[in-house]
Amino acid sequence: MLKAVNYIGPMSKGKSRPQLFECDDGKQYVVKFMSNPISPNSNKHIVHEIIANRLAQHLSLPIAKAEVIYFSQEIIENTPQISEFEVKPGPHFGTVYYKNKARPTNKERIKKCSNLQEMAGVMVFDHWVHNRDRANNLWNLIIDEGEYENKLYMIDQAGCFYSSRRNKEKLRDRAHSINMHWGKTYKNFRPFLTHKNSFKHYVEKIELFPDSDIRDIVFSTPGEWEPDHDELEAIYKYLTSRKSLVNEIIDNLLNEEF
Ligand SMILES: Nc1ncnc2c1ncn2[C@@H]1O[C@H](COP(=O)(O)OP(=O)(O)OP(=O)(O)O)[C@@H](O)[C@H]1O
Ligand SMILES: [Mg+2]
Repeated sequence: MLKAVNYIGPMSKGKSRPQLFECDDGKQYVVKFMSNPISPNSNKHIVHEIIANRLAQHLSLPIAKAEVIYFSQEIIENTPQISEFEVKPGPHFGTVYYKNKARPTNKERIKKCSNLQEMAGVMVFDHWVHNRDRANNLWNLIIDEGEYENKLYMIDQAGCFYSSRRNKEKLRDRAHSINMHWGKTYKNFRPFLTHKNSFKHYVEKIELFPDSDIRDIVFSTPGEWEPDHDELEAIYKYLTSRKSLVNEIIDNLLNEEF
């Protein structure tokens, strides 16, 4: 497990007030703490973050890679700037920091993304895991701006699985239908995503995602973040029972009929 070694500073945005740290691999990570008096459901949110992040990596989706990051008593004591978070020693959540990030707000910036077609996969994925917090939120998708090309990355998967309202009963009752999501983020990309195959490629990948791999990912969540085995079991069942439903959304997204 990575260890946090140096505090860099706060991120300028985010309800959970993410903090930037350098870790012992020499890279910088945007960190969300497992318990956080400023954001009472942060433990639930980072469960969603780590599960969705690992699922997305398995599907080769563009996502700011997540790591479980260990905070020692020493780094906590040596960083008075984070005292208000009452950070406990143990595993916390971080994603690799992209310092040249920009929002997907204009056509030129979007067009310059070398992985633009992967946005079709992001849209399919958001429906599979029920993440309503990207379609209409331009802050939860970043474009890493480069001199010759840009790259698109998903961030903030906290809103998956009904966000703070997630519980096993809700997951069980709502597994069998998919609500369509739409909004300005999807709209900005939609003119570039004209081929059905771009969507189909990811739908097929989800359909072929082995249940045993989904199980391993869900149950690799640190126990400190989600001690209730039944909650993880419900997330696992939610995901597996929706694999065969994502196919339904392709025509809706292409035709914007919803
Ligand atoms: N890996 C990253 N690289 C660069 N910037 C990032 C990264 N992760 C987060 N950010 C920046 O920090 C902001 C807050 O992050 P994030 O949305 O994950 O936090 P949050 O507390 O869940 O926010 P909210 O609930 O308000 O959306 C993002 O809008 C983005 O600008
Ligand atoms: Mg966000």
